[in-house]
Amino acid sequence: MQKLVVLTGSGISAESGIRTFRDAGGLWEQYPVMEVASIEGWEKNPQRVLQFYNERRKQAAGALPNEGHLGLASLEKWFDVRIITQNIDNLHEKAGSSHVLHLHGEINKARSSKDPSLIYEIGEKPIQWGDTCEKGSQLRPHIVWFGEAVPEMENAIRLVTAADIFVIIGTSLNVYPAAGLLHYVREGISVYLIDPADVTISAHYKAVHFKTKASDGVRELTRALIPQK
Ligand code: APR
Repeated sequence: MQKLVVLTGSGISAESGIRTFRDAGGLWEQYPVMEVASIEGWEKNPQRVLQFYNERRKQAAGALPNEGHLGLASLEKWFDVRIITQNIDNLHEKAGSSHVLHLHGEINKARSSKDPSLIYEIGEKPIQWGDTCEKGSQLRPHIVWFGEAVPEMENAIRLVTAADIFVIIGTSLNVYPAAGLLHYVREGISVYLIDPADVTISAHYKAVHFKTKASDGVRELTRALIPQK
């Protein structure tokens, strides 16, 4: 089976009612990103950061996967599909995708603020100030903040390097190192982009751009990859 590797961003969850970051009305218009999503913000005012992610966890709890997520899951009938997502929601998993790599962490997990190996499933529960890990240190969201390393990057590079087809859905490619994954695509591999906006991708990749929302774009991608479908 050919390896179909997909890099997704907040745009794929937009139709599920989860806000993106840099679109009009996006999260970073309402919240100062470095106060709520950076290691400095956590050190300065951890309660504010906990509140920000408690709000996002509540919003994500009520969200359902859309046709974009579901269409990617159904491509597993024809391809060895590997999802690399920048999203912290679990909509790819809810849609049935078997291999999902979260580059920026997961909203439904908490971890010890002292021992990063202590990770806990918390589902939709909020993390309160005073909630501690088994070693007594404050719990924090299991999220990669600005200013922190991206532990899953090596695994993501390995997946992209092995890709036979590479698809980018719903990301402005503004944030590194995630946005740099495109550079690991082997020469001559087909690249597809699904995004209603003009996302800049070097002409070198000859990307096929389905300039539409994720649900329609994944349908068009499926038709392009499996003509008889
Ligand atoms: N379908 C597909 N794409 C969409 C849709 C949609 N319905 N709606 C918006 N988009 C596109 C936008 O055009 C944009 O290109 O999704 C992209 C969203 O870009 P950003 O808001 O920058 O989100 P993202 O690229 O995921 O941000 C990356 O930045 O703040 C950090 O950690 C955060 O993981 C996040 C990272």
